[in-house]
Amino acid sequence: MMPAPSRSALIDALAWQVELGVTEAIGDVPVDRTALPDRAPWLPAPPGRNPAGPAATAPTRVAPARPAPPPAPAPDVDTVEAAEAAATGARTIDALRAAMEAFPHCALRQGARQLVFADGRPGARLMIVGEAPGREEDETGLPFVGRAGRLLDLMFAPVGLSRTAPDLERALYITNILPWRPPQNRDPRPDEIAMMKPFLARHVELARPDLLIAMGNISCQALLGRRGITRLRGTWTEALGLPCLPMFHPAYLLRNPAAKREAWADVLEAAARLEAR
Ligand code: URA
Repeated sequence: MMPAPSRSALIDALAWQVELGVTEAIGDVPVDRTALPDRAPWLPAPPGRNPAGPAATAPTRVAPARPAPPPAPAPDVDTVEAAEAAATGARTIDALRAAMEAFPHCALRQGARQLVFADGRPGARLMIVGEAPGREEDETGLPFVGRAGRLLDLMFAPVGLSRTAPDLERALYITNILPWRPPQNRDPRPDEIAMMKPFLARHVELARPDLLIAMGNISCQALLGRRGITRLRGTWTEALGLPCLPMFHPAYLLRNPAAKREAWADVLEAAARLEAR
C-alpha cells in the first residue's frame, strides 16, 4: 500500500491546482471518494461498495479549460520586433486583442489562464494603465477586478468617473502593461515589459484617450522609463505623446492606507484636468 502523502505535500498539491486555475473544491454531486480506489490508493475501499456506481462518475466543477495555445514560437526571433509588427498590423482594438491572443513569444502566457486585455470604454478620455493581472483578473479575463480594482473603482466614483459610464467624458478605459498574469504575482521583468510595450503603445493609439494614468511603479517604468512612484506621483508628465499622471497603485494603498490622501489629491487633479480641456 502506498504511504499517505504528508500534510505539506497535500498543501503543495492544492496550491498547484489553484495555480492551474481550479476554483472549486466542491462538486455538484457528493462523491464517495472511499469508493474510488484508483484515485486514493492509500485508502482501502470499504467492503460492499461499488466503485463503478454513480458516485464514481459524478461530475466535478472545475474552471473552464484554457484556450488552445498558439503555435510554438520560432527560435531566434527578435520578440520586440515581432511584437511591433503584430501591433502595427492591428487596425482596430478587436484586431489588437486578436493579435495579442495569437502572439506566441511571451512565456507568461503558458502559466496564465487567459489574456487580460482591457475593461471599460474604449474612447474614454481617461485611460488607466496598471501593471499586470492577478489571480482574479486571470480568472475573469478583466483587469482590476480584485480588491485593488474595487478600490480603484471607489476612488474614481466620487468624481463621476467609472468604467461603465455611458458618456465617454465620464468613462474610464483600463488596461495593464502585461496582459498575462506573472507566476505568483511576481513583478514583471524588463524583457517582458519591453516585449509587450508595442502592444500597449498601439492600444493607446487605437483607444485615443486624452489623458493617461500610470498606476504604480511598474507602469511608470514601462511608460516613463522611471521608477520611484513616491517622487513621481501627482506631477503631470508625458508618455506615448499624451499627458500622463503617475499615481500610487491601489494595491499599495491597501497596504498603506495613509497614502490614500495623496491618491485622492491625484484623482481630483485628473478630474480637474479633464474638466479643463
Ligand atoms: N493590479 C494591476 O496592476 N492590474 C490588475 O489588473 C490587477 C491588479
